[in-house]
Amino acid sequence: MKIREFCFPEDHKGALELWGSMEIGVQVGRSDTLEEIKKKIQRDPDLFLIAEIDNEIVGTIIGGYDGRRGMIYHLAVKSNLRKHGIGTMLLEEVEKRLRDKGCKKCYLLITAENAAAAHFYERNNWREMKEDRIFGKEFP
Ligand SMILES: CC(C)(COP(=O)(O)OP(=O)(O)OC[C@H]1O[C@@H](n2cnc3c(N)ncnc32)[C@H](O)[C@@H]1OP(=O)(O)O)[C@@H](O)C(=O)NCCC(=O)NCCS
Repeated sequence: MKIREFCFPEDHKGALELWGSMEIGVQVGRSDTLEEIKKKIQRDPDLFLIAEIDNEIVGTIIGGYDGRRGMIYHLAVKSNLRKHGIGTMLLEEVEKRLRDKGCKKCYLLITAENAAAAHFYERNNWREMKEDRIFGKEFP
């Protein structure tokens, strides 16, 4: 298994397949089209990582850094390969890259029913920010 940066556009299909196979935690949406992923890669090419085994994408993580805060999106590991440390390796590598850029604080969102992800992040020393409320706005 190796962790490497996402290659645009050739990794898009494999990443979409992986995300589409997630039973929980990752929803393929309008930010996942080839055009949108291109924008993401242009901005943070070194924060979009994949885990690969024999040329197959088995894990992904998308990091973001806006100069003040970090974000994590689409951490996903193929279901039959979970609990082998792949998720932790992807998270640790993105965390290291964010720290190296000067990032002091990072956020991520999980859905309320995703107890496995909550457990995973707590084990990796993330804490739920219960004092905060999240607001969002969709632009057309
Ligand atoms: C959350 C997710 C990414 C974790 O990926 P993962 O590769 O299973 O994570 P890890 O293997 O690093 O850690 C999971 C567990 O396996 C254990 N583990 C790690 N390596 C292990 C090994 N070699 N042998 C046995 N157990 C191991 C870890 O200790 C951890 O145990 P815990 O549940 O008791 O804390 C994965 O479950 C997933 O893709 N879920 C669906 C998508 C999702 O919810 N994403 C998060 C929302 S953004």
